[in-house]
Amino acid sequence: MSMESIAWNQVYRSMNAPDEKRAFNKQTAGRILRFARPHRSRLIGFVVLSVISAALAVATPVLAGKVVNAIVAGDRRDVVVGLALLIAGLAVLDAGFGLLGRWLSSRIGEGLILDLRTAVFDHVQRMPVAFFSRTRTGALVSRLNNDVIGAQRAFSQTLSGVVGNLVMLVLTVVVMLGISWQVTLLALVLLPVFVVPARRMGRRLAGVQREAADHNAAMGNQMTERFSAPGATLVKLFGRPEQESAEFAARARRVAQIGVRTAMVQTTFVTALTLVSALAIAVVYGVGGSLALNGTLDAGDVVALSLLLTRLYAPLTALASARVEVMSALVSFERVFEVLDLEPLIKDRPGAGAVPEGPVAVELDDVRFAYPSADKVSLASLEAVATLDTRGGEEVLHGITLRAEPGQVVALVGSSGAGKSTIAQLVSRLYDVDAGAVRLAGVDVRDLTAEAIRGAVGMVTQDGHLFHDSIRGNLLLARPEAAEEDLWDALTRARLADLVRSLPDGLETVVGERGYRLSGGERQRLTIARLLLKQPRVVILDEATASLDSTSEAAVQAALGEALVGRTAIVIAHRLSTIRAADLIAVVEDGRIVEQGTHAELLAAGGRYEELYVTQFAEDGGDLPRSRVS
Ligand SMILES: Nc1ncnc2c1ncn2[C@@H]1O[C@H](COP(=O)(O)OP(=O)(O)OP(=O)(O)O)[C@@H](O)[C@H]1O
Ligand SMILES: [Mg+2]
Repeated sequence: MSMESIAWNQVYRSMNAPDEKRAFNKQTAGRILRFARPHRSRLIGFVVLSVISAALAVATPVLAGKVVNAIVAGDRRDVVVGLALLIAGLAVLDAGFGLLGRWLSSRIGEGLILDLRTAVFDHVQRMPVAFFSRTRTGALVSRLNNDVIGAQRAFSQTLSGVVGNLVMLVLTVVVMLGISWQVTLLALVLLPVFVVPARRMGRRLAGVQREAADHNAAMGNQMTERFSAPGATLVKLFGRPEQESAEFAARARRVAQIGVRTAMVQTTFVTALTLVSALAIAVVYGVGGSLALNGTLDAGDVVALSLLLTRLYAPLTALASARVEVMSALVSFERVFEVLDLEPLIKDRPGAGAVPEGPVAVELDDVRFAYPSADKVSLASLEAVATLDTRGGEEVLHGITLRAEPGQVVALVGSSGAGKSTIAQLVSRLYDVDAGAVRLAGVDVRDLTAEAIRGAVGMVTQDGHLFHDSIRGNLLLARPEAAEEDLWDALTRARLADLVRSLPDGLETVVGERGYRLSGGERQRLTIARLLLKQPRVVILDEATASLDSTSEAAVQAALGEALVGRTAIVIAHRLSTIRAADLIAVVEDGRIVEQGTHAELLAAGGRYEELYVTQFAEDGGDLPRSRVS
């Protein structure tokens, strides 16, 4: 890379840096140092190398001047050759140090990225479900990626830029002044003529650059959202593809325009910089040459001055934008720390334990719950990426009391939005209750470790999520150490073995994004197989509301029968057959349990259950006593 384009890159980056003038507290500085500590010795080595390189860069022009003087004075040949060898030696040394410096700075930079990335990943993974339901994943991921990279820049590039350039600048100016202060001052006068308009031009460009970044982000979002199986399906069914294309094209066109403008500004900048330093060199030749003719300067001094000058302009322009650069790198650090500081709402209490051995009773005791609002689970600075939801804070469950004895199957029924899935999420502690308690085997879930709950409770969610992985990969999630025959056993019991055997790739078949390559019923049976493999003591089943054809229905039903045997279960039921199999049915309406009992008892009571039964379940082939309908 030429000096000019390095300088350009630095100015360019400072233009695009967020114009933040916040004061950085000592804490941030301290934490940065803590992250830097493991790289301490490499950092010191790097700074020392930068100083040596700068000194070498100044030494060569001075030696070149001495060569010219030796020639003019008609010195002995071996003096000239000696100087030339010295210059060659310095060049070799400089190359070696350059390689070493690059190795050190990339070790530091990449090491820092590694540390920050793993810290952020570990932390975000521990965030509760609420965080992810508030945050747009793509935006969060790209944001963290960019900020992590921005943060490491503070160490490798900025540090080397500032330290190296500063040393180089001071040394060069001192040496030049020592040779001829008049020529040096004249040459430097030209600099502001160039730097001031360049910076003004840069600032104006920064605005359009940010606009381009916004457009790029919007296009990226549009693509990731639309180019997934569910998104593409939605667009095909409801979308207006022409309008989407037009919108996309308009953004892409604007980005192209901005690209042309950026290229022109960049070229103008580099050309101007080259021109100014060429003019300054002309000044050195003119003024310095005249002084040499007067005998005030040596010919070698003129050569040394002109060579030194070429090494002056790049560090000067780079330093002019150093402050903004350092600031923007620090902002990146703060953004990363901000995410690291976000306390997970749900974490293990000190002394949290395991679920007692044996069958487990599940109990909800006067549970009240509201979904946490955005400000509790997300970040102010992530606000731009969090879909702002005003629903948070409203109580969804108003005093739920429910008990599933060990081995019992409890069915929850009720209208859509009544709070059934919410109850299920509380039992597996995806959220914490606001009042009351959820207990497993008599122990409050808040006194259990996350690992203990994961081990004891298996859940099949309403949407039956699968990872974009093979069938094997999705099954092994439940029990990584499972043997081949365990997998097939689970598949057989989930009534899925025949299908998997008929697939050309068998267990290695990749199910596609979110399992879109399987039918709804197959997907459900695969999630049930996963549950069977896990063999949890408590099963929570959130039946999919979508009705299946009768063959799939029968298969899913049989799979469910297997899953529930001998386990405590809470089943959110939309199918009469599941409900009939339950030991206890609880009717949930508006966040309350309005009725509890067996199928026969509730029908006899003639309340809400009977109403639901008539409207929702009777056509399932239910044998509703005619006398009750009229
Ligand atoms: N993440 C969330 N944040 C805020 N409110 C939510 C969230 N999830 C659900 N709700 C609200 O909580 C209430 C209960 O929802 P829930 O999902 O428990 O209903 P449900 O009984 O499972 O309904 P369905 O039978 O349709 O699945 C609804 O009013 C819903 O809008
Ligand atoms: Mg639900």
